[in-house]
Amino acid sequence: MYAVTLDEFGGPEVMRWAQVPDPVGPGAGEVLIDVVAAGVNRADLLQRQGFYPPPPGASETIGLECSGVIAEVGAGVTDFRPGDRVCALLSGGGYAERVVVPATQVLPVPGELDLAAAAALPEVAATVWSNLVMRAGLRAGQLLLIHGGGSGIGTHAIQVAVSRGARVAVTAGSQLKLDRCKELGASILINYRDDDFVAAVREFGGADVILDNMGAAYLDRNAEALAEDGQLCIIGMQGGVKGELNIATLLGKRGTVHATNLRKRPATGPSSKAEIIADLHRHLWPLIADGTIAPIVHAELPATEAAEAHRLLDSPETVGKVLLRIRES
Ligand SMILES: NC(=O)c1ccc[n+]([C@@H]2O[C@H](COP(=O)([O-])OP(=O)(O)OC[C@H]3O[C@@H](n4cnc5c(N)ncnc54)[C@H](OP(=O)(O)O)[C@@H]3O)[C@@H](O)[C@H]2O)c1
Repeated sequence: MYAVTLDEFGGPEVMRWAQVPDPVGPGAGEVLIDVVAAGVNRADLLQRQGFYPPPPGASETIGLECSGVIAEVGAGVTDFRPGDRVCALLSGGGYAERVVVPATQVLPVPGELDLAAAAALPEVAATVWSNLVMRAGLRAGQLLLIHGGGSGIGTHAIQVAVSRGARVAVTAGSQLKLDRCKELGASILINYRDDDFVAAVREFGGADVILDNMGAAYLDRNAEALAEDGQLCIIGMQGGVKGELNIATLLGKRGTVHATNLRKRPATGPSSKAEIIADLHRHLWPLIADGTIAPIVHAELPATEAAEAHRLLDSPETVGKVLLRIRES
């Protein structure tokens, strides 16, 4: 089969569409997917640069999510059969014509959604749902602050929060992104280049939940921005890994700091990918099937243009997800 390979670690230009061995399997409990499209994630850019190695046992090929058609099922798989239109959360291997994945990380394409567009869902849906809903229990009337509202994660998180009746504040670095966030349902729009997000959310009593992509750079200010009993969910480290936190700020308001990583979760068992996928299927998938929540796709590029897709994700004009088209469906 063909896959995106790396000549070496480095810039986008190190990626090539080249022939590689087919994946082995499917083994028991796994399925083989003929990939139609793969989602591009910020983590992929880090893996390409050599800063985010795949976990033990995962494919060396980049790609944390895909959509496609089931080609084969392994022993014991009863939920899927060859020909099913699906999308899947992967530990790697999405930028390829074929991928093997545990069936517990596979979801049917919701409703009549376009098969390629479904590749934009697994990573953002699992990350946002596991943090905002399963961990923080975001509910109606609460204020959610999303840093990087125009990102793949942010554009999905806005829609999930609005669907639960929460009020949404976002930070972004441009008016273009803030406008798009407003269209998706955000009502407090903060340009982090000009405005202080702490002051902006404190005007409304502080944030009950914060979804944070910046890590160290925003740690202390995030604690200041929390409401009483507020919860900070850190999912990214774009602003560094070591920060300073005024514990007194957190104690006084009974604040909580969560930090989670999706890729390193076990496949099954407590806090696993399987647990999140099952919850998504039950609670989020109906909202996507009925159009309440939609994948936000900025661009879809052919697999041979993976380098351009990575450059695009890094561009300040990109709102939502970038997809790689692996084959026609
Ligand atoms: N923990 C997990 O399991 C998990 C899973 C998936 C993703 N993530 C993390 O979630 C984040 C979003 O991922 P993605 O794939 O959706 O990335 P993405 O689309 O590339 O978005 C990154 C965003 O960061 C924003 N940003 C840059 N500087 C900022 C600042 N100072 N303040 C606020 N926002 C800023 C950018 O917006 P502007 O152009 O407006 O600056 C951009 O929209 C990444 O940090 C990623 O690593 C974590």
